[in-house]
Amino acid sequence: MVVEIRQRVDADLPALIVALAATHEVDRYPVLPNHVSQEWLLEGGDDAAWVAQDGELVVGHIAVAETDEDPDSLSVHRLFVLPDARGRGVASALLTAAETYARVLKQDLFLEVVSHNTDAIHLYETRGWRWIRQYTATWAAPDGRHPNIHLYASPDNDAMHFLDLGAGKPTE
Ligand SMILES: CC(C)(COP(=O)(O)OP(=O)(O)OC[C@H]1O[C@@H](n2cnc3c(N)ncnc32)[C@H](O)[C@@H]1OP(=O)(O)O)[C@@H](O)C(=O)NCCC(=O)NCCS
Repeated sequence: MVVEIRQRVDADLPALIVALAATHEVDRYPVLPNHVSQEWLLEGGDDAAWVAQDGELVVGHIAVAETDEDPDSLSVHRLFVLPDARGRGVASALLTAAETYARVLKQDLFLEVVSHNTDAIHLYETRGWRWIRQYTATWAAPDGRHPNIHLYASPDNDAMHFLDLGAGKPTE
C-alpha cells in the first residue's frame, strides 16, 4: 500500500489523538501525559501540518511552526508515526514535506528532540540533520527528572546561525 502525504485537516484530529496516545505509551512522546491532547498537537498553528495516510488509516503526523526566538527560522513539531506503521519510510516522507516547505520559504529549519527518543535521533542523523547542542529542560518529566534535549539543524540550512530555543516549555 502506498502511503500518501497530504495536508492535515480537522477531520484527522480524532485519529491523530489515538496515534499520539499510542506513541506516548511506547516512546514517552510526548513526555507529559496531559499533552496527549488536541491543544498540544495544534500548538504552533494550522498552516503547515501534514499527515501520512495509509488506505483509510492516518498513521503519522508532522508540523512546522515559526519560532518565537528567531523570525527567520522554523521548527519541526509533533513528528510521530503509529507504532504499527514504523520502519516503512513514513517519517522520512513526512520530514521531506517539512524540509521542502522550509526550503521553498528560504527559512532555516530546526528541531528539538528529547534524548530518550533514540529512533528519532537515529532518523535525523541518517538524513543528515546536524547536531548543534544539548541542554537540560527547565521542566520536569513525570519521574521528576529534567530531560536532556538535543537541538538539530536541517541539512538544508546554509548558514549555521544559532537558534536559542529555550527548553523552557515541553514542546518537542
Ligand atoms: C521516530 C519515528 C517518527 C520514526 O518513524 P518511522 O516511520 O519508523 O521512520 P522511517 O520508517 O522513515 O525510518 C525508520 C527506519 O525505516 C527505514 N526505512 C525507510 N524507508 C523505508 C522503506 N521504504 N521500507 C523499509 N524501511 C524503510 C529507515 O531507513 C530507517 O531504518 P534504520 O533505522 O535502519 O535506519 C517513530 O519511531 C516515532 O514516532 N517515534 C516516537 C515519536 C518521536 O520520537 N518523535 C520525534 C519527536 S522530535
